[in-house]
Amino acid sequence: MSGKFIVFEGIDGSGKSTLVLNLAKLLWKEKKNDHILITREPTSGFYGQEMRRLLKEKTDPAILGEKMLELNFKDKVNHVNASIKPALEKSYYVLCDRYMYSSFVYQGLQGITDERLKETYKGLLRPDVWFLLDLSPEKSLARLSSEKDLFEKIDWLTNLRNKYLQLAEQYNGVILNAELPADKLAEECYQALNERGLV
Ligand code: TYD
Repeated sequence: MSGKFIVFEGIDGSGKSTLVLNLAKLLWKEKKNDHILITREPTSGFYGQEMRRLLKEKTDPAILGEKMLELNFKDKVNHVNASIKPALEKSYYVLCDRYMYSSFVYQGLQGITDERLKETYKGLLRPDVWFLLDLSPEKSLARLSSEKDLFEKIDWLTNLRNKYLQLAEQYNGVILNAELPADKLAEECYQALNERGLV
């Protein structure tokens, strides 16, 4: 596959979707690249929608781990097969807002063991690079609107951030400072891609 698969991760409010859009603009500006797929998870497909529905229910997240793992795994397999792989085969840049590292972090904190997560995702396509937009839980909360889902509480956010940082070390994530101004953040991200021969 000749395209590039680039993933963005981080806690809610870290600015992933803005970075994805700004990076797409830079790819256009610098490379005149018109083969860019912007996508995200949970997807708008059946399993992704089911996942979002569950998130809106006021159930303790800790008891939904198994169900969320199942839905997210199925959602990712469909996403890879229906959208990501076909785009990579056509040499697209695939910019994906959340991927398997979200599951490692979120379902991990819902009680699913690392071994189980590793086993579940072992056959799934790996990105060429993944970025972690690192942000303090306080800043995250300040950025979020009043409509919060189950995962958007300060203690959860703190645990999520720590787990993400751990994961970045373990799985070669590139850490970006999510507090930077949006244009600067996109430039740093572009630069990191350049250093890795991806642009
Ligand atoms: P989010 O990026 O917040 O979507 P949106 O902003 O469109 O509502 O994702 C929704 C939630 O799904 C988020 O809190 C993290 C969670 N999630 C998982 O638990 N596991 C996963 O594998 C993924 C992709 C997301």
